[in-house]
Amino acid sequence: MKEKIIELLKGSGDNFVSGQKISEILGVSRAAIWKHIKVIKEDGYEVEAISRKGYRIISSPDILTFEEIKNYLDTEYIGRNIIYYDSIGSTNSKAKELAEIGKGHGTVIVSEEQTLGRGRLGRNFLSPKYKGIWMSIILRPNILTENISKITLIGAAAVQKAIMKMGVKTSIKWPNDIILNSKKVCGILTEMSGEIDHVNYLVMGIGINVNLDKEDITSDLKDVATSIKIESGKTMDRKLLLASILNIFEELYIDFVESNNIKETLDICRKNSILIGKEIRLINRGKVTTAKAIDISDKGELVVENSSGNIEHIVSGEVSIRGLYGYID
Ligand code: BTN
Repeated sequence: MKEKIIELLKGSGDNFVSGQKISEILGVSRAAIWKHIKVIKEDGYEVEAISRKGYRIISSPDILTFEEIKNYLDTEYIGRNIIYYDSIGSTNSKAKELAEIGKGHGTVIVSEEQTLGRGRLGRNFLSPKYKGIWMSIILRPNILTENISKITLIGAAAVQKAIMKMGVKTSIKWPNDIILNSKKVCGILTEMSGEIDHVNYLVMGIGINVNLDKEDITSDLKDVATSIKIESGKTMDRKLLLASILNIFEELYIDFVESNNIKETLDICRKNSILIGKEIRLINRGKVTTAKAIDISDKGELVVENSSGNIEHIVSGEVSIRGLYGYID
């Protein structure tokens, strides 16, 4: 009901909507409306109430609910159902729980903070309140498991393109980090449930350090992580950024799953790659080797020239690069 009232008030812009009209449209008493308005105000909306005129919204809070995003969203299914939390352990864990009980393709779980945010390789992921975008998308693609890594690339390409559209030049560190001025601003964690040749569902978790201030970055991460705000000096509109990511993601995703076309994703990943042309360190199951990154293949693998001059295609693993994340050889 609260959501419907917000939608109604937002829909009439600067004009007042009378309690009578709201109660007719939504079929609830005027006393009930008044109670909902109280909660809406507690959520951070500034609502003007004038007797005999009604209500209007003067300003909306900086929160990532569906009501706040939907005017910017032009997707068919991604983000059409946004499940919003003020605080949660991990949106990926919640998304997996919800996917298990049948939540549909394209459902997005968003939280304003994560108290147990998870990164790859069992690491923690810092996710302070109202400062970033911490979300997970439930996907049910009809693809072979060998193609899952391409979905991660689609996610990275969508984040990269959306941030660039908002005027900040980031880079992609294959396969799932977004880098700004040599430090990480976004990480992606894709988890799956399925069998060897069948994907039951995927959960793609995206964490973006949007408006964190220097003091939000814990001392252990100071050398490796930053935020868009710290680097650009400007606050970025989280609602616009989130909607733009979902819009771009859906476009790239549909190209891939419906037409087997991953060209634009690969173009974005190649053009903005921080690895191509650089000497890198590959860490695979604890084994460290050095190589030169040459390209990203049409299958989305990292193409490298190893120290013996042979070409190898890397499917997954940790990659580090000189001068990045404080890594200096
Ligand atoms: C990494 O860089 O290692 C991946 C980080 C992924 C973080 C996101 S934030 C939203 C989602 N929920 C989680 O617990 N993790 C992912």
